[in-house]
Amino acid sequence: MLRSPKSVLLLSGPNLDILGEREPEVYGQQTLEEHVSAARLAAAGRGLTLDHLQSNAEHVLVEAIHEARGSYGAIIINPAAFTHYSWAIHDALAAFDGPVVEVHLSNPAGREQWRRTSVVSPVATGTIAGFGREGYRLAVEAVAAILDT
Ligand code: DQA
Repeated sequence: MLRSPKSVLLLSGPNLDILGEREPEVYGQQTLEEHVSAARLAAAGRGLTLDHLQSNAEHVLVEAIHEARGSYGAIIINPAAFTHYSWAIHDALAAFDGPVVEVHLSNPAGREQWRRTSVVSPVATGTIAGFGREGYRLAVEAVAAILDT
C-alpha cells in the first residue's frame, strides 16, 4: 500500500473492547464503536480517512504500528494499560515517522500512582487525556491540525 498522508490509523489497546460496560463511572457509557464513529466523523470532516484496530494483545498492536510505516500519515493510539509499561509499543512508535497522538478517556495523571507514568508519551507528538467522550474527536482534530501545517 502506498503511503497516504491523509490517512490515520486509530489503535485501541486492551479492555477497550468492553467500554460501556467497564467501570462506566471512570470511562463513560459510550462503547468503543461509538468513540470510533465519532473519530470517523471528525476525520471525514477534515478530509482524512481513518482505519481502526482494537486488540488485547501487545504483539498485534506492535505489528500494526510496523505496518503503518509507509502506509499511514498519522497514528492515534489509546494504549490503555500498555501505556504504563509497554516498551515494545514505545519502540514501535519511535520507528513511525509521522505524528502520533496518545489519547485517554480518563486523566491518568489524576489517578493511581502507577497510571501517572506513560512510556508512550516520550514518543508521542502530544496527548489528549481526561475529556471522556470528546477525546477521540479532539485527537482527530489534533492530527488534522498537525498534518495541515
Ligand atoms: C485509559 C487509561 C489507562 O490507565 C487504563 O489502563 C485504560 C484506559 C483511558 O482511556 O483512560 O485501560 O487508557
